[in-house]
Amino acid sequence: MDPNQNEIHENAMPRIGAKAPSFTAVTTQGEINFPSDYEGNWVILFSHPADFTPVCTTEFMQFAVMEDEFEALNCKLVGLSIDGLFSHIAWLRTIQEKIEYKGMKNVEVKFPLIEDISMNVANKYGMVQPEESGTQAVRAVFFINPKGIIRAIIYYPLTLGRNFDEIKRALIGLQTSEEFNVALPADWRPGDDVIVPTAGSCGVAKERMEGEVEGITCYDWFFCTKKLSKEVIDSALLKS
Ligand code: BEZ
Repeated sequence: MDPNQNEIHENAMPRIGAKAPSFTAVTTQGEINFPSDYEGNWVILFSHPADFTPVCTTEFMQFAVMEDEFEALNCKLVGLSIDGLFSHIAWLRTIQEKIEYKGMKNVEVKFPLIEDISMNVANKYGMVQPEESGTQAVRAVFFINPKGIIRAIIYYPLTLGRNFDEIKRALIGLQTSEEFNVALPADWRPGDDVIVPTAGSCGVAKERMEGEVEGITCYDWFFCTKKLSKEVIDSALLKS
């Protein structure tokens, strides 16, 4: 079987469950081959509209400040905009040397920032959405698992900065769901009850509804939860 057969092609919107489109790119940390360089790691691949713009500056500072928290979850950060390498370098130097914002200062961005003047990568990932802007990428966030599969996508418009609490919650949720084979209810946070796979037979549905399955609580035959402590999640997900 062709390993790239599930790959999305140029100008197509990528989809959850698809293989992350592959590319080679120049970044502020040298050349990268994506996603092969990141095999075995989760990756958050994100785009921003432009260097030297205020919302993007606040987001980059926040990503940089939280980089260790993502690293602890075995997750690498990779940024992208339709700007050139020297613009990226100058902007990241300005952020570190001059910008003090909400208690963040001297912030060094250590993760790679892709130069994408050609829009090669942005087009492969559907980051340019012409109704919003034909020349700038929207604020896209791709969560890619250690096998290079896209597991979640969030898009924000140019004028709204991302919610980093949600980005981290989504990452932990995706990892928890894969690790423990559970689904997660609305507004789930580590430590909240998780949803067990729906009964696959009438017999299991009956057992569950008759209270015969220890450790689960059923709201109806198709909707059962169990406890999963934050400690158990942390010990499975956090790198030691
Ligand atoms: C910003 O990052 O501040 C920004 C970028 C593009 C359009 C509007 C705002």
